[in-house]
Amino acid sequence: MLSKLLRELIEGKEPDRAALVRLLTLERPDELAELYAAAYAVKTREVGRLVRLRGLIEISNICTQDCCYCGIRRSNERVTRYAMTKPEILAAARLALEFGYGSVVLQGGERSDPAFVDFIEELLHAIKTISGGRLGITLSLGEQSGETFRRWFAAGAHRYLLRIESSNPRLFAAIHPSGQSFENRLRCLDELRLAGYQVGTGVMCGLPGQTADDLAGDIEFFKTRDIDMLGMGPYIPHRDTPMGRDFDYRPARQLEAGLKLIAATRLALRDVNIAATTALQTLAPDGRERGLLAGANVIMPNLGEVGHRGDYLLYEGKPGLDENAESTRRALLASIESIGEGIEAGAWGDSPHFARRLKR
Ligand code: 5AD
Repeated sequence: MLSKLLRELIEGKEPDRAALVRLLTLERPDELAELYAAAYAVKTREVGRLVRLRGLIEISNICTQDCCYCGIRRSNERVTRYAMTKPEILAAARLALEFGYGSVVLQGGERSDPAFVDFIEELLHAIKTISGGRLGITLSLGEQSGETFRRWFAAGAHRYLLRIESSNPRLFAAIHPSGQSFENRLRCLDELRLAGYQVGTGVMCGLPGQTADDLAGDIEFFKTRDIDMLGMGPYIPHRDTPMGRDFDYRPARQLEAGLKLIAATRLALRDVNIAATTALQTLAPDGRERGLLAGANVIMPNLGEVGHRGDYLLYEGKPGLDENAESTRRALLASIESIGEGIEAGAWGDSPHFARRLKR
């Protein structure tokens, strides 16, 4: 019985691989509703009903990597490339303070040249200075050397997001060019942890060739690696990429895959931070709210101005391209209120899992 399994998971039982596969393959609407309700119960008990906000600053779409699914991959010549300047980024960070977002995420295409590494280091010092240390800073800037991770940590970053994309090495290899290795991702995740960061990872779901067993393996990977935070979202095709061309794209199916993965992960990992990603909102206007109701507790509202938003398209159909930081914020607050949740204002918003991990 599904109800019995869900009750045991709510009470703290660890799901085994077969139980995870079962959750991830549910399809009946009444059973899905039960799954989401169970995950929501665990979420409210473990991390509360206050959404943690991170202001997202998409600092640049210049990328040296060539991921087969991503719209800003190096080989996509149709993209107009941009890089925000330091004053532009600092203005966005000030908005985050003004809006009470508590922390920012600097996300961008991957670069590891010395000029870029120095630029980020200076930027981190500057954000710390203008905020008097009040703004938390997460980086999402791809694979780097251990030395770079350590320098950026010393300069004030304390969380880092680096998705593994798939914990199945064969699937990872199928969606990346041969020069990009699974082993290097693992090395980066190890070095981030050693450098002292709260480490976030995640995967895409609904990928061609991906099975429920792969996703169950992903959840076990998060657990084994003692991950603090997660960003997971459905794959959405982009026509100017090798993978986007003849994908059988059904938005409702992708959305359901994303919600199931969030719910199963909440039931298995309990006290971590899980983001309701923009990919969910791309698939349905209320996708992020549904993510929160399926167990997510973090949202990353875009702090960017209209100008660059249309050039940061990892996939097609991304919403909010005609919004600015203020209208994004208003829409977000309304949607959070619509499901009876509130926001955690002004705090860094670390996961309870991180605090517990430090005490162990
Ligand atoms: N669909 C969904 N997610 C994508 N990402 C990149 N391209 C796509 C896409 N086409 C995700 C990857 C990456 C993160 C920044 O965005 O998981 O790690």
